[in-house]
Amino acid sequence: MRTKVAIIGSGPAGLLLGRLLECAGIETVILERRSQEYVLGRIRAGVLEQGTVELLDRAGVGEKLHAEGLVHEGVEFCFDGDRHRFNFQELIGRTVTVYGQTEVTRDLMRARDRSGLTTIYEAENVSLHDFDGDAPKVRYVKDGVEHQLACDFIAGCDGYHGVSRASVPGDALRTFERVYPFGWLGILVDKPPVADELIYAHHERGFALCSMRSPTRSRYYVQVPSSDRVEEWSDQRFWDELRRRVDEEAADDLMTGPSIEKSIAPLRSFVAEPLRFGRLFLAGDAAHIVPPTGAKGLNLAASDVAALAEALIEFYAERSSAGIDGYSARVLSRIWKAERFSWWMTSILHTFPDTDPFGRRIQRAEFDYLRTSAAAARSMAENYTGLPF
Ligand code: FAD
Ligand code: PHB
Repeated sequence: MRTKVAIIGSGPAGLLLGRLLECAGIETVILERRSQEYVLGRIRAGVLEQGTVELLDRAGVGEKLHAEGLVHEGVEFCFDGDRHRFNFQELIGRTVTVYGQTEVTRDLMRARDRSGLTTIYEAENVSLHDFDGDAPKVRYVKDGVEHQLACDFIAGCDGYHGVSRASVPGDALRTFERVYPFGWLGILVDKPPVADELIYAHHERGFALCSMRSPTRSRYYVQVPSSDRVEEWSDQRFWDELRRRVDEEAADDLMTGPSIEKSIAPLRSFVAEPLRFGRLFLAGDAAHIVPPTGAKGLNLAASDVAALAEALIEFYAERSSAGIDGYSARVLSRIWKAERFSWWMTSILHTFPDTDPFGRRIQRAEFDYLRTSAAAARSMAENYTGLPF
């Protein structure tokens, strides 16, 4: 089998890259380790930057997103029970859209199926070969039979634990990492959200987030120590803890019910450099991880592949390697700004085991500054709604 671009991974990065290349007439094959149902069963991010929405529109997959997505013109921060709204629309004239990653993935899969393009699910033992030359290959096993896919380029869109970054010789790669001593325990529930917009709450017991997927489905999180296991958290314990961390009004208005999903996500900051090795490119979580506090993971995956698609399109149209040569430096500059914002949001909103009284006063001062300075609020709004692609 032969294709132009072999894409490893059918998460949002791989699927969107496939779609953007398809729009330019460039053929791709996607190899995915899991089944389609498994990929669609994962509950992950929920907030799309305005630039991500515009990109999905350009890729012709924005119809359901506009019909069902919730446009939010602001967000709320709550510090020790003191709640404040930041109006993005007023501050910088931009918005975000609440639309689940699962839905983005489903829309992209449907579009790919309709176009009759090849995705090989449950591809086992995927391995990358000869990407330092001009005839790379990918080998995999499907239903017990070994296959080889020859290609011009390989796009490693296979997430943090994927094979692509692991295939790069160690001395060619530099990594930067920060692991936080806590995770987010998340719950999905078929009850209306507690407020019209998201509430990010700082409390001495820990961070909490009130989010949503639709007018009838809510997503809530509480910060838990990394050592906690999901079995230790009954629904009742979760609701009790959430109520303690938000303001009184939210605690009173909270509508609880049986969880339909409950899981713990660890928090990590991670960046690999560079992101191009000959004819192999890394994009999305394969290249970097952000703690979810800034709602940037999915959006960064989108901005990475927008740049990669542009570079590959330029290569095929003009036989110019300028775009692919510049890919790594171009996306890393945006990645580090999203890393900075996600780290900052994490550091002001969470409770750290080693935060002393001085550190807590600094967190409080950050909140007061944001609440009283239009310049500070604009900076937050600019980053939250997304820096330019
Ligand atoms: P992924 O979505 O991870 O997709 C990679 C794909 O590659 C997967 O389908 C995987 O099965 C496949 N794959 C892996 N290895 C191989 C292999 N060897 N061969 C073939 N295929 C392979 N972000 C937020 O903004 N908010 C959140 O609340 C949030 N929650 C998260 C919770 C969890 C548990 C995780 C893991 C991430 C969360 N994120 C969140 C981050 C966000 O979901 C990711 O940034 C986003 O999924 C990145 O997309 P991606 O396509 O790069 O990677
Ligand atoms: C979510 O709805 O899952 C969500 C929203 C905002 C975040 C992280 C997760 O910052």
